[in-house]
Amino acid sequence: MSNQLIEPHGGTLVNRRLESNDLEQAQNRAASLPRLTLNERNLADLECLATGVYSPLEGFVSEADYKSIVDNMRLESGVAWSIPITLQVSEDDVVSAGQEVALAGPNGDILAIMDVKDKYQPDQTHEAEQVYGTSDSAHPGVQAIMEAGTVYLGGPISLIADLPKSEFQEVSFTPQETRDAFAERGWNTVVAFQTRNPIHRAHEYLTKVALEIVDGLFINPLVGTTKSDDIPADVRMRCYNVILDDYYPDGRVFLGTYPAAMRYAGPREAILHAISRQNYGCTHFIVGRDHAGVGDYYGTYDAQEIFEGFSQDELKISTLNFEHSFYCKKCEQMGSSKTCPHEAQDRVFLSGTKVREMLSNGQMPPAEFSRPEVAKILMKSYQEA
Ligand code: ADX
Repeated sequence: MSNQLIEPHGGTLVNRRLESNDLEQAQNRAASLPRLTLNERNLADLECLATGVYSPLEGFVSEADYKSIVDNMRLESGVAWSIPITLQVSEDDVVSAGQEVALAGPNGDILAIMDVKDKYQPDQTHEAEQVYGTSDSAHPGVQAIMEAGTVYLGGPISLIADLPKSEFQEVSFTPQETRDAFAERGWNTVVAFQTRNPIHRAHEYLTKVALEIVDGLFINPLVGTTKSDDIPADVRMRCYNVILDDYYPDGRVFLGTYPAAMRYAGPREAILHAISRQNYGCTHFIVGRDHAGVGDYYGTYDAQEIFEGFSQDELKISTLNFEHSFYCKKCEQMGSSKTCPHEAQDRVFLSGTKVREMLSNGQMPPAEFSRPEVAKILMKSYQEA
């Protein structure tokens, strides 16, 4: 079943899984090819490339695309793209352009073949400054690129085996599958919600305000690598299930994982997140305060403003921007400075650090911040840690 929701980014939904004869031939070739072992981040990108989450990309980016993305936020073809999807290897890996390589998962099983078209050694400091807005190695996204190799390989990939089973298999879908699911439900407009956190009251508020104006909500938590003090995906998944059961209407919400790693690139990552969600078939994308941010590298609304540099033709998905939201004790409800006239002291605001501290001390965060069902799961996991 194909759906008419919204076209994939760049026009075509990519599927790099080989079939029948091509698959057999590639599998036969693969065993004798030089082998590169992917880390968790590369593996997540391989999945996104192979299943079309990163459409129209068909592989790790070439040098021309890399430069164009870093400096102009567009592929060489002009299609909008904000973060280069790269395969970094070390100088000791003997691979040349024009050669095929086998890509293996962390356990050594060959998963894909890559046709290496390009090998380059870019200026990583420039990449960090452009993409992350800083070359500070304390930034987790910058740290990840600096720790990976200095040699970049570009070229299309072809999947020749099943990807390792997700820990969250029952809520793991390809973009074609989410498109089919949305069509089956008769949803014409679908809002996507990216998150790397449990759904607290502010998140619930944004998603429900959005649900007032669209047909369906796609809760699409990122489950790839995150920094060590973020809440692990398995704990979050328990939180999502309980809040969906208890606080969201049946039939208007679809939960599915986003396999990518978190880059913490703030505004540039908001664009990548939006593009991926367009590929899943979503028409709208929620961008709140400091989307995909970390520390104080980005301004509160930078991730909203960056979209102004792209026309509706370039990015078909529309953003729904939200102000910093909170519970106001005087209003007795959630709101933001757009809807609540009261003072700072009337508003419940807890920093991530404060919440972690409370949970570790066995103290429930207030119900105005987090639903008790969610808080209980978090507290249990903190105390077991
Ligand atoms: S993120 O790294 O995935 O952006 P998080 O899971 O905290 O982090 O946020 C998910 C989405 O909710 C983002 O769009 C973020 O901007 C938004 N958001 C989180 N908290 C608030 C809040 N209190 N007010 C408004 N938007 C928020």
